[in-house]
Amino acid sequence: MSINSTSSQTLKRLKNILIIGNGGRENSLAWAIQKNELVKKVYLVPGNAGSERIKKCERIKIDINKKIELIEKLNFLEIDLIVIGPEIPLANGLADFLREKNFKVFGPGKDGAKLEYSKSWAKEFMQDANIPTAKFWKVNSLLEAKKIIHSSPTPLVVKVDGLASGKGVFIPDSKEECIKATESIFAGKFGDSGNLVVLEERIKGPEVSVFALCDGERYILLPTAQDHKRLNEKDKGPNTGGMGAYSPAPLLTEYYLDRIIKEIIEPTICELNKKNIVYKGVIYFGLMITESGPKVIEYNCRFGDPECQTIMPLMDQNFVFLLEKCSMGNLTGDEKIDTYDKVSGCVIATSKGYPHEYKTGFPIKIGNIDSSDFQIFDSGTSLGVNGELLTDGGRVLSIVCQEKNFDMVFDKVYKNLKEIYFEGIYFRNDIGHQVRETYSREN
Ligand code: AMP
Ligand code: GLY
Repeated sequence: MSINSTSSQTLKRLKNILIIGNGGRENSLAWAIQKNELVKKVYLVPGNAGSERIKKCERIKIDINKKIELIEKLNFLEIDLIVIGPEIPLANGLADFLREKNFKVFGPGKDGAKLEYSKSWAKEFMQDANIPTAKFWKVNSLLEAKKIIHSSPTPLVVKVDGLASGKGVFIPDSKEECIKATESIFAGKFGDSGNLVVLEERIKGPEVSVFALCDGERYILLPTAQDHKRLNEKDKGPNTGGMGAYSPAPLLTEYYLDRIIKEIIEPTICELNKKNIVYKGVIYFGLMITESGPKVIEYNCRFGDPECQTIMPLMDQNFVFLLEKCSMGNLTGDEKIDTYDKVSGCVIATSKGYPHEYKTGFPIKIGNIDSSDFQIFDSGTSLGVNGELLTDGGRVLSIVCQEKNFDMVFDKVYKNLKEIYFEGIYFRNDIGHQVRETYSREN
């Protein structure tokens, strides 16, 4: 796709872009969007302390829940395209509201976001469309759950039905633990999100993330990625939001990708259409490659974090056009993303204690960095009274690099990480171990 192939009307319309969200994901989206010379300004609501280090970016304070003020501000700023990053505003119907007010929005409506905000609905959706996924039971009482847990030959995975900030999945090793997890959910640990519980057969295999940009009917795929969900090296320790990623995922050979398209992606889009859901946004397929083939672990209605920070630097300057086409329902499906000749990797630097309790407010010092094809996207930072950069989240910085091969990518990421310091900094040293020749390095 070249700039020349887009109409002058489109060009005029893409001056001011607004991104909703405050994480590394949104900063990386802003970074990729501003690459296009037609884009004059990228506003982030609320963004974080790293947002304004990105060219053309400005943070603005608007409470997205104050609808009248929001619309006034969007009109005042002459916003041409809105990209909604996180799942909560999508689940609350923000995209529907903004579309009703005639804004172009990248992000599904409440109906499409249900793929993420109700796990039981998503499982039934997959069942309806015959999409491969783990066997499941939807339960609404502890008694019913106990019966199913006891009759299963192996411990089941226990999931909160609704949104739970990545904390609603339990993978117990015994039936007693399954019951304990179910009890805690029904006792109200997750509020209304836990009114329903999904029990699932535990499946095995490597996990991969696949992203489809959809315009309601057609789609195009972004480069694949692999996340590292566990806190510690060798994939041990508690689940986190993601400790690092790389893209593309060589595990997804053409054979698997073909199967994923035929068995999962196309049936998903067809089923959305059947259910009259016009999905204009990204569908994130969290997949497991099992012995019997690829299966869906979960759908998300947003970009993955840190997969997004990893993939965005591979995008060419036309990326913003793809988002716009999705928002307008006019993808051709044949668009090519020029992901230039490099691979990308990302390591997340976290606060000590994450994903549990952690302290914030520590100064971040960044020394002598090799900055070619290298990005630091702030995930959770704030500015102190004197403008100094401070830690302000569990995941603090996304450290990203592109090189010819993964060894070179992670060599640079880890070399640069030695120049980055804050009290309690923690990161995994083995991100990309699946694709690196040198398994892990001395710090
Ligand atoms: P989710 O939030 O549904 O992606 O689940 C978080 C993580 O739990 C996934 O990335 C998997 O590692 C694991 N998981 C979820 N469902 C299953 C399952 N049915 N079998 C095995 N592992 C699972
Ligand atoms: N990388 C996992 C997620 O965004 O949910």
